[in-house]
Amino acid sequence: MIKLDNRLRAVVDNISGKCLADIGCDHGKVSCMALIEKRVEQVVASDISAPSLDKAKQLAKQYGLENISFKHCGGFDDYKDFEVDVAVIAGMGGKEILDILANRPQGVEKLVLVAHKDVDKVRTYVAQNGFSLDKDFVVKSGRKFYNILVAQVGEEELSYHDIMLGKNSLQDEVYRAYLDAEIEKSEKILKAMGDSKSLDIEKYLHLLYSEKEMA
Ligand SMILES: C[S@@+](CC[C@H](N)C(=O)[O-])C[C@H]1O[C@@H](n2cnc3c(N)ncnc32)[C@H](O)[C@@H]1O
Repeated sequence: MIKLDNRLRAVVDNISGKCLADIGCDHGKVSCMALIEKRVEQVVASDISAPSLDKAKQLAKQYGLENISFKHCGGFDDYKDFEVDVAVIAGMGGKEILDILANRPQGVEKLVLVAHKDVDKVRTYVAQNGFSLDKDFVVKSGRKFYNILVAQVGEEELSYHDIMLGKNSLQDEVYRAYLDAEIEKSEKILKAMGDSKSLDIEKYLHLLYSEKEMA
């Protein structure tokens, strides 16, 4: 069976709908597992890189999967023949994810997003563009932490806390470790800045300290 690390397991666990768009599918594990676990009826796996898309094609072939289409394209550029209702965009920077989301087709009702940076910008965008964040939690894979964002069509106003830290439970050990890592990272950045201190980072650190106190 296809092995998934904690990050990809969390992504697949949150897929539901009829037709999945796996944008930037690369290895194809998410696309294939979504079909194997019958989380959707149909998958469109796409990637801007042909060699990456080939990996997904090989994996689907190995598991004899039908109901999967492959598209060599950037973002949603070649999705006109499909009625996508759920999309995964994972393993890219937040700004790249926002560019892709800006051109999403109508009918996409659920998003599973994993940005490796600028997660706050992704949260802000989805909340300002007709989605609400159903879930927003941290997982650890290897030595890295990842924020998993699951959004559904809806309305939501996010607080500064929600934009910066999501909706994690203070009881969650992984989240507490994430807070420690974020504090360490932000303190280092602030120290390196010397006199030219950043108010943004100071504000974020203040939030991290008070969150940590409550944990
Ligand atoms: C780091 S991999 C992530 C693969 C998988 N989604 C995951 O999370 O494990 C990023 C993939 O996104 C693809 N990619 C980057 N920008 C893209 C875009 N604008 N549209 C489609 N694919 C893109 C890359 O070619 C690469 O295969």
